[in-house]
Amino acid sequence: MSRKVAVIVGSLRKGSFNRKVARAMQAMAPQNLAMEIVEIGQLPLYNEDDDQGDPPQSWVEFRQRLKAADAVLFVTPEYNRSIPGALKNALDVGSRPYGANAWGGKPGAVISVSPGAIGGFGANHHLRQTFVFLDIPCMQQPEAYLGGISDAAFSAQGGFADEGMRGFVQGFVDAYARWVEAYLAPA
Ligand code: FNR
Repeated sequence: MSRKVAVIVGSLRKGSFNRKVARAMQAMAPQNLAMEIVEIGQLPLYNEDDDQGDPPQSWVEFRQRLKAADAVLFVTPEYNRSIPGALKNALDVGSRPYGANAWGGKPGAVISVSPGAIGGFGANHHLRQTFVFLDIPCMQQPEAYLGGISDAAFSAQGGFADEGMRGFVQGFVDAYARWVEAYLAPA
C-alpha cells in the first residue's frame, strides 16, 4: 500500500537547498511512500480571531491536505538557531482550531539542511519539541543534519552529486519508509 507523505519545506527561497533536498528525496522514495510537497508560503500569519467562523481559504486547504496525508516529513533550514517563522506559522495553522489538530498521530521525521557546519541541529531539535504538543510521533534514528550544503552538492539531474551524501539520505528515506509502515500497520 502506498502511504501519502506530506513534505513540508521550511524555506520559501526560490533557490532553496532544502527544497532541492526534498525533491531529491521524492525521487529516492521507495514504492510504499508517495511524497508530495505541501506549500506553506501562501498561509497568512496565524491569528485566532481569523479562525472564528470563516477562516482564510488557504488555511482550510492546508488543513485538508494534512488531514489527507498518512505521514509528515519536514525538510528545514535553521534560522537563528531555531526554525524559520514560516514553518512555525504552518505548524500553528495546522494545529487549530482547538480540538482539530491536523498533524496529530501522523508519523514524522526531520531532516535539517544548512551550508553551516552543524547542519541545522538547533532547528531540527526545536522542531522536535513542537511535535510533543502536536502529537507527531517522530522517527528517532537515524538523525539527519545535512551540513556544508551548497549548489555543488546537487547533480544537474537534481540528485546528490556526492555519493556519500546520496547514500546517507537514501538510508534515511528507507528507514523512514520502514518506520511509517511499522507505525501505521494494524496492531
Ligand atoms: C540563516 N542561516 C543560518 N544557518 C545556520 O546554519 N544556522 C543559523 O542559525 C542560521 N540563521 C539564519 C537566519 C536567517 C534569517 C537566514 C535568512 C539564514 C543561513 C541558512 O542556513 C541559509 O540561508 C540556507 O541556505 C537557508 O536554507 P535554504 O533557503 O537554502 O533552503
